[in-house]
Amino acid sequence: MIRKAVLPVAGFGTRCLPASKAIPKEMITIVDKPVIQYVVREAVEAGIKEIVLVTHSSKGAIENHFDKHFELESSLEAKGKTELLEELRSIIPDDVNIISIRQAEPLGLGHAILCARPVIGDNEPFAVLLPDVLVNDHGLDKNDLAGMVDAFDSSGQSQIMVENVPRDMVHKYGIVGLDDPDLKPGQSAAISSMVEKPSVDEAPSTLAVIGRYLLPGSIFPLLAETPPGAGNEIQLTDAIDTLREREGVAAYRMRGETYDCGHQLGYLEAILAFGKQHPKFGNDFQNLLARYAGQE
Ligand code: G1P
Repeated sequence: MIRKAVLPVAGFGTRCLPASKAIPKEMITIVDKPVIQYVVREAVEAGIKEIVLVTHSSKGAIENHFDKHFELESSLEAKGKTELLEELRSIIPDDVNIISIRQAEPLGLGHAILCARPVIGDNEPFAVLLPDVLVNDHGLDKNDLAGMVDAFDSSGQSQIMVENVPRDMVHKYGIVGLDDPDLKPGQSAAISSMVEKPSVDEAPSTLAVIGRYLLPGSIFPLLAETPPGAGNEIQLTDAIDTLREREGVAAYRMRGETYDCGHQLGYLEAILAFGKQHPKFGNDFQNLLARYAGQE
């Protein structure tokens, strides 16, 4: 059972500037919701009940977004705007808690996850979702994170979501090597090596870590001992590679689509995808796209 998820949100979002100068990059809107709301919904749909935000003093808007806004709700209620009110109230289900903890220094993703140790403890498995990355599982019976939870429950092994990327993109990702490189979407198989942001010549494959992980609490002592790696940062990938040597780690190949919203084109693609499938605006948006399609 995986009930807790860690979302590292302390980063400054340099890649998203100028949009992220005065608002957290996680609060940038995709159609009608901030990026982080999609990620939290993905976690909740996979059974997560406790979301641990590893955050920074400049990121208060994220906590506010998931908090009850009593005055706004009273005002909407008084005006009879019940549909909007319901939408606000459903941002986070009543049985899901948001907890936040600060990352005092930007020492890397591995360090950010280590900051959640006092909340998670060393004996409980947990999920990690990187909120720059959106996963679109539209039309699937269950989302990819839930697929990973199933694989974790049946094998007891840590799961890392992966997808193929073009060769010229491997240096931007954690890359995994597999004994059997022919991993099909929805399947999970043992990882034989893992390296953070390798050059294309050093990369064991083109299967990239997509920002979704299911890890045991025993990753925390490993993170605490992990020295700075790529970019002189404490890398989650390096600690997972040590975990792999000790007890094995599996890669889960995603079935859905993914967009890197920390990159402008990835963000635009996410808007196109989520706009087209939006229950309220989808049809009109498709008409707009058709209208613009022929224009230079
Ligand atoms: C992080 C991880 C990397 C992963 C990537 C996914 O890198 O360190 O292994 O492939 O997220 O987006 P970052 O994008 O934070 O540099």
